Amino acid sequence: MSGDLILRASGLTKRFGGGGFLTRAPVVQAVDDVSLEVRRGETFAIVGESGCGKSTLARLLMRLLEPTAGQVVFDGEDISHAAGPDLTRLRRDMQFIFQDPFSSLNPRMTVGKLIGEPLEVHRPDLTARERRAKIGDLLRTVGLTDAHANRYPHEFSGGQRQRIGIARALASGPKLVIGDEPVSALDVSIQAQVINLMGDLSRDLGLTLVIIAHDLGVIRHMSDRVAVMYLGRIVETGTAAEVFDSPRHPYTQALLASIPAPRVEGEGRAPQLSGEMPSPTAPPPGCRFHTRCPFAGPECRNSVPELAPVDTGEVGSRKAATGTDHRVACHHWREIPLPAGAARSAPHSEPVEARFALYRAAIEGGQVVLKARVPTAAT
Ligand SMILES: Nc1ncnc2c1ncn2[C@@H]1O[C@H](COP(=O)(O)OP(=O)(O)O)[C@@H](O)[C@H]1O
Ligand code: SF4
Ligand SMILES: [Mg+2]
Repeated sequence: MSGDLILRASGLTKRFGGGGFLTRAPVVQAVDDVSLEVRRGETFAIVGESGCGKSTLARLLMRLLEPTAGQVVFDGEDISHAAGPDLTRLRRDMQFIFQDPFSSLNPRMTVGKLIGEPLEVHRPDLTARERRAKIGDLLRTVGLTDAHANRYPHEFSGGQRQRIGIARALASGPKLVIGDEPVSALDVSIQAQVINLMGDLSRDLGLTLVIIAHDLGVIRHMSDRVAVMYLGRIVETGTAAEVFDSPRHPYTQALLASIPAPRVEGEGRAPQLSGEMPSPTAPPPGCRFHTRCPFAGPECRNSVPELAPVDTGEVGSRKAATGTDHRVACHHWREIPLPAGAARSAPHSEPVEARFALYRAAIEGGQVVLKARVPTAAT
């Protein structure tokens, strides 16, 4: 693995169920032949509708689940079937931020204990005093104070609880943090604060972040690269600018079109998504999107499109043609026009603008002090 990559998945597949002779539960094809690469220090986003396999993929990447097929290489080591001491080390180096800050924190533990617990496991070298100092550092890093260590989760708001979850995730000094819809359960007014906090942390601490979301507005402002998932597969991947400004897959185009945005008179918009995502127990053959795709032709029903480089023949696309950036899995992407509003609508989507306006107002009103601080105490 090149030094610049921290995580690489190849041909990752996960099927659930179907094992019992009597129950005959249908097999769920949750993740199918997913390959991706995450570079050290970047924020990599995975987006797609609910049920498309994002959480399963995240759990595979962290070795919380064992793949049915395929491989995950983390920091140069194949972790696909890691166990025992290797797994303990992995739990230190890769941390998870959960979606729900209400159920993911034990209500009977003080915040100090919640953050101290991973420190006890992964940093047994620290004395009790050093541990307390480190807990204070972590709390301040996420915009809370030392005094919060003695309080219980129920005394905090949703946004503060997610900050506690983030501090807990940072306690072991991870190299990679995966957030599974880390702001979806929060009020819109709080989401931008937590997003900005994560952006500050990745920059100041040099963290690699993998963020999962169904809200594209969230992703646009915090990710370097994006993978779009549909029914267990990646259909498009590239830099945030490539995916948001020049979406090539009809599904990406439809997802972007579903973000409320100001319309320009006479401008074309990609078709909105219609119908439901088919069940992953019976995914359509060929291109899995063909049952909802306005551009589907006969070959789309039989032949699985490969995730191939977007080579438009322009000078700017040479990198994509030869390298790893913009890729799309569609037989017809060359014939499908770019939606005229794509470049304009995504960065200025109303929900995000509204969030950032609220955030700015909160800062100006002195309610929020957010700048993350790198822990300073010797540890
Ligand atoms: N442990 C499991 N057993 C059976 N099916 C599962 C399990 N976990 C997830 N699934 C199914 O796999 C599919 C993908 O789920 P998930 O990864 O949670 O998607 P997302 O996070 O994108 O909403 C869904 O159909 C879900 O019901
Ligand atoms: S391969 Fe065919 S069905 Fe799939 S997205 Fe492309 S045009 Fe649509
Ligand atoms: Mg999920």
